[in-house]
Amino acid sequence: MAERRKLVMGNWKMNGTRAALPVINNIDGAAAGHPDVDIGLCLPATLIEPACAVVSVVMLGAQDCHEQTSGAYTGCLSVEMLREVGARAVIVGHSERRDYQHETSALVAAKARAALDGGLLTILCVGETAEERDAGAAEALVADQLRQSLPQGAVDGLVIAYEPVWAIGTGRVPTEGDIESMHRALRATLTDCLGEKAEGVRILYGGSVNAKNAATIFAVPAVDGALVGGASLTADAFLPIVAAAAQSH
Ligand code: PGA
Repeated sequence: MAERRKLVMGNWKMNGTRAALPVINNIDGAAAGHPDVDIGLCLPATLIEPACAVVSVVMLGAQDCHEQTSGAYTGCLSVEMLREVGARAVIVGHSERRDYQHETSALVAAKARAALDGGLLTILCVGETAEERDAGAAEALVADQLRQSLPQGAVDGLVIAYEPVWAIGTGRVPTEGDIESMHRALRATLTDCLGEKAEGVRILYGGSVNAKNAATIFAVPAVDGALVGGASLTADAFLPIVAAAAQSH
């Protein structure tokens, strides 16, 4: 199997104003020392353009996009708009948007299609709730969610993030065994849906990744990187995670 480059992507959610530009600049400075790892930050859309001026290595991205190219969609941003301000990546289908904005898997698939067509690295999130895991069918359920959320057509630039909803922002993480078996189930689903093209699609783990647990998570063979929320907001918290990814090669 070809080695997939590790990707460590931060998700700043609704955090960060221009006052945070020095943090982004610090992360970028240290990122340059890890050429074997792809490193990015998905920022509030308002921060992408100013952040472009303070990075040279870190890939900047958004946290959502609209599925249409333009039109009467008050408050929404198209892929072209995000690209124009410097975004090279975007998250689609984060569980917070599936929950609070009621985004369905069909909508997530349409957003992923638009993002890939626009040339963005597209991080498509899936994951089960605590109730779903307790009910004992998490793998089948998340595999099905992935199937429904996958865009039709070419998938160059597609990345999957497995984020158990109960692990996001809680400090709780699945066991290594649970992460590995879920990632294997998702890889099998990708292969089933995409054939050989699945080989190039990275599968990240997300949910309470921090400096302490990153090395253990990256040592799980089926894990191609991490999507990091809270611990991506400061250089002190984020850079050890990047270093752990670099050491996992
Ligand atoms: P967390 O968030 O690292 O703060 O748990 C991860 C995410 O929601 O992407």
